[in-house]
Amino acid sequence: MAAELIKICQTRAHQALDQRLPAAELHPNNLHQAMRYAVLGGGKRIRPVLVYLAGHAVDASPDMLDGPACAVEFIHAYSLIHDDLPAMDNDDLRHGQPTCHKAFGEALAILAGDALQALAFQVLAQDPAMIPDPAIRLRMQGVLAQAAGSRGMAGGQAIDLAATGRELSLVELENMHIHKTGALIRASVLMGALSQPAVDATALERLDRYAKCIGLAFQIQDDILDVTGDPATLGKTTGADRVLNKPTYPVLLGLEGAREHAQMLYEEALASLESLDDKADPLRWIAAYIVERAY
Ligand code: IPE
Ligand code: IPE
Ligand code: MG
Ligand code: MG
Ligand code: MG
Repeated sequence: MAAELIKICQTRAHQALDQRLPAAELHPNNLHQAMRYAVLGGGKRIRPVLVYLAGHAVDASPDMLDGPACAVEFIHAYSLIHDDLPAMDNDDLRHGQPTCHKAFGEALAILAGDALQALAFQVLAQDPAMIPDPAIRLRMQGVLAQAAGSRGMAGGQAIDLAATGRELSLVELENMHIHKTGALIRASVLMGALSQPAVDATALERLDRYAKCIGLAFQIQDDILDVTGDPATLGKTTGADRVLNKPTYPVLLGLEGAREHAQMLYEEALASLESLDDKADPLRWIAAYIVERAY
């Protein structure tokens, strides 16, 4: 049941992304091909899935959710293109294929990331299928901009680069993960919930608390999988964090300690949803998936 629902959301997200990306034949076609390659080449679509499931939890209309689902995935895809560049993690493999810069060259990869970031905000501003209320759209744009920017993902990536080769305290490590990964996951849940105009502040606050926990847990599991994961399943090179001397949860707490920490966050995420009814069950399932996943 849970796995089926996630699959339905992933398929819906893939179609919505495909529809919103510029056609591969459209001029400048090499840029559009690079954008399509990075977005449609694979990925778990966890952020779009969270938009759909948070929307479901508060009874938002599914048709209103495709726009924010695509917007956050465009930001995520851009963040991965740039994360893989030689100036950052210098990775050759993503989704089981050459990284965007390996396939298209560094310059086009940088531009594809830039253009995807712009496309995300274009969708929130102009997508005809989204919630029509301009005030809600504006609020979503603010949520996503903050999550993507220097106080969100980009800031977290800067902290990550500055921390490479250094030892961080648990508080510093948590701060880095909250920004580089947690911020976009939080924005996904918030935008899903904001797609219901009648959503109340208490539900928003509970969902936000849930999102903070699973966002951090998601990156802890990513760090664990870099140590224990199977590269063929993950579609990316494992062991890369150790090679680059990245501070991670397994380095600081050991594998078992990292797993326990993720489990604790999972329980906190569930506790945050306590007052929500069974429409929030899919959010409960995906929280379990996040800490158990092998991919
Ligand atoms: C990988 O994110 C980078 C992190 C922020 C941990 P995902 O594991 O969500 O990447 P894809 O989109 O599924 O490949
Ligand atoms: C990336 O974290 C977080 C982003 C903001 C893209 P990682 O560098 O650990 O992601 P992977 O392991 O390369 O997917
Ligand atoms: Mg990185
Ligand atoms: Mg990386
Ligand atoms: Mg990683």
